[in-house]
Amino acid sequence: MRRVRSVSPMAVAAAVFLLVLTISFRASARSTSASIDVRTAAQSSAADAGNFTGPGSCSAVACHGSIRPVAGSRILQTEYSTWVSQDRHARATDVLSNAVSVRMGRILGIGRPDQAQKCLACHSLDAPEAQRARNFTTEGVSCEACHGPATGWLGYHVTKDAKHDESVRRGMYDTKDLVKRTDKCLTCHLGTSEKWVDHEMIAAGHPDLVFDLEAFSSAMPRHWRESPDADAFRLVRTFAVGQLVHLRSSLDRVARRLKGPVWPEYAELDCFACHHSLTRAEDSWRQAEGYEQRPRPGNPPLNVSRWVTARHVLETLDPQAATELDAIMPKLVIEASRLRTKEDDVVAFANQARAIVDRGVARAVASTPTAEATSRMLRAIFADAAGIAGRGERAAEQAAMAVETLSSALARARGQDPAAMKTTFAELFQQFESPSAFDPRRFVAAMKKVEGATRQAYGL
Ligand code: HEC
Ligand code: HEC
Ligand code: HEC
Ligand code: HEC
Repeated sequence: MRRVRSVSPMAVAAAVFLLVLTISFRASARSTSASIDVRTAAQSSAADAGNFTGPGSCSAVACHGSIRPVAGSRILQTEYSTWVSQDRHARATDVLSNAVSVRMGRILGIGRPDQAQKCLACHSLDAPEAQRARNFTTEGVSCEACHGPATGWLGYHVTKDAKHDESVRRGMYDTKDLVKRTDKCLTCHLGTSEKWVDHEMIAAGHPDLVFDLEAFSSAMPRHWRESPDADAFRLVRTFAVGQLVHLRSSLDRVARRLKGPVWPEYAELDCFACHHSLTRAEDSWRQAEGYEQRPRPGNPPLNVSRWVTARHVLETLDPQAATELDAIMPKLVIEASRLRTKEDDVVAFANQARAIVDRGVARAVASTPTAEATSRMLRAIFADAAGIAGRGERAAEQAAMAVETLSSALARARGQDPAAMKTTFAELFQQFESPSAFDPRRFVAAMKKVEGATRQAYGL
């Protein structure tokens, strides 16, 4: 996923240096720190099950702080090292002190963002005061932000025959469950009723929230083992579940906001319906497309980026559900794009759509994708490139991330290196570099090239 910036090499070098320092410090001065932490946690687990410890308890070399993957170990054991040196989550609290954040704080009138609950809710290990164990540190979106408060399972999970299910019973969050995993990411990458990013925050400087489970997991980067080549299609199931859960949550969010204090909430609409530069009428692709699926020409439409790719995933898994969804979504889009909406009607459409997507999620979880299903999804997205592009920049971006994931699964299943397609994809992702100038015609041309290269390499 090209839109995601990787951490700069300098920062990596500095972090690795720090990491080595920390580790050697731990190794010499507190060589038994891991066992002490663990024992303390085990002893106190009955008293404070469900408390947060902070990432320090996970960082010992013998646990998750190894510099290199440990031979013969089921897990990599480098998880902490990867997180601290390469994962943007480790710096999520630091960014609250940068110039953009400080200005955001001023515009929003919330004071210092690094002390504002409004921001810390997503930019830190946001544990309630009463649930913080000794030595707790809040900085960064750290291990327990995803894996759950550790005091209940920390002691158990380091024992020799520890089982994942038992750790989960003791309070570990089940990130292996794909639906739960996606839901966890989306609490921050889409928002909830308790914490959110709206247009007010975006206008003040916050990036818009865009997500794709597979693309974002590989950009983190993953600190867990990817499925082996032979099982490349497992990744397609993860992708499919991610797509549908993302769509489901976005329907919930739109329903929530329709009933909220601000509607139209601009962050639910197509950003670039408003934020694009004007051209001569002869050059306007928007006017050339016309204003179908709008209540009125010129009304900014709902952002449907989470639907237009996911519907092809659903089509492959459950054609009947896809047809039903296709009947409802246009009504939702039109009714939600009125400047004066009938809220109850629109919420009803969103709920109907949600119920259909729900069935799709269950199908995706139970599915075992094959090369044929993967190709079918790809072919459907390629065939619809112009339709998707007409739904705006964000819709095209979702499709691009999806195509890259699916194409790399085909490559891996054949033992080929997905990196061989790098330059073709680079051209595709270039289309999103200045989003206000997004041009669907150029996007469709770039998709055609990707399609040609994919057909040639993997047959389709
Ligand atoms: C609903 C969760 C959520 C809330 C609340 C939130 N953020 Fe964010 N923030 C994110 C996510 C997710 C990203 C990463 C977006 C991406 O790159 O896709 C992000 C990115 C950022 C970035 C860009 C970071 C970079 O590396 O350039 C800044 C700056 C930022 N947030 C500041 C704030 C401030 C200040 C507040 C409070 C006013 C805030 N955020 C509240 C979720 C949130
Ligand atoms: C942004 C969310 C997130 C953060 C932060 C995070 N993890 Fe993970 N972690 C995951 C996901 C998703 C998986 C893959 C699913 C799985 O195997 O549980 C995973 C997998 C793992 C695994 C492999 C589990 C297995 O059975 O194969 C370990 C070990 C792990 N994480 C440890 C850590 C440690 C230690 C930290 C902190 C330094 C951390 N994680 C931070 C999301 C996260
Ligand atoms: C507790 C909130 C939270 C959770 C849960 C969370 N994230 Fe994030 N994520 C953030 C914030 C905040 C940032 C921005 C950090 C920054 O730029 O410094 C971010 C940034 C990212 C980035 C970098 C984006 C960019 O533009 O470079 C990726 C990739 C990412 N998250 C993937 C994931 C995945 C995958 C999951 C679930 C397994 C997940 N996140 C769960 C809060 C969260
Ligand atoms: C209905 C029209 C509309 C939609 C849709 C919309 N915005 Fe805005 N946006 C505005 C207006 C109006 C302003 C305020 C401009 C001003 O006061 O100068 C604004 C301000 C902004 C600003 C700050 C000013 C600037 O140009 O830097 C940013 C950034 C921004 N919007 C991004 C977005 C993003 C991202 C989305 C989609 C998630 C979005 N907007 C959706 C109308 C819209």
